[in-house]
Amino acid sequence: MKREALALASVLAAVAACRGEAQKADATAPPVQAASASAGASLCAAHQALDTMDQRQAVPLLPMMANHQKQMMRDHLVSVQGIADGLARNDFAAIETAAKKSGCSHMGTGAPGFTEQAITFHKSADAIADAARSKDRDAVVRGLAATLATCVGCHAKWKQQIVDDGTWARVSAGSPARE
Ligand code: HEC
Repeated sequence: MKREALALASVLAAVAACRGEAQKADATAPPVQAASASAGASLCAAHQALDTMDQRQAVPLLPMMANHQKQMMRDHLVSVQGIADGLARNDFAAIETAAKKSGCSHMGTGAPGFTEQAITFHKSADAIADAARSKDRDAVVRGLAATLATCVGCHAKWKQQIVDDGTWARVSAGSPARE
């Protein structure tokens, strides 16, 4: 219950900030800036529309953290591609290298449950590296299937929520900073 309340509060804070910015700009800006402020407001509305459609739970992140998380995600995709490629060529050294590339990022502060899913994912990627070291093809395939299941499970549940410094300070208060 508390988790949902926290996630909802962070969504509402971000939405309120978006609205506040648009109104402030509209009231005070000269005509040229007012035009771009109304473009800003419409961009805001577009983001809000997406946010309403996307019913997944929010992981609050500062822009820099969100960007870093997406970079790591693209690396994860490179990693599973490398594992599949290694399997196709029976190249266990390549599989091990690719499996070890899944860098670690637990940016789940303010989203209880997210970090735990990240840890499960990394354990399952480690199991692939172990299986590759012992040249156990079946265990690599099982490990890849299990790892892909953790990718799918996490993506089904969570979405990024970009927040400002003030919101971040509120949602991360009391949680140890984790990365
Ligand atoms: C602990 C949770 C978690 C796990 C595990 C996870 N992801 Fe993600 N991933 C996310 C989140 C959150 C996003 C952002 C989704 C959003 O906001 O729409 C994301 C986004 C992505 C993106 C889009 C990146 C971009 O540039 O927009 C890719 C690709 C991706 N993940 C690949 C993977 C792959 C491949 C795996 C498994 C090998 C994986 N992820 C495992 C949470 C996770």
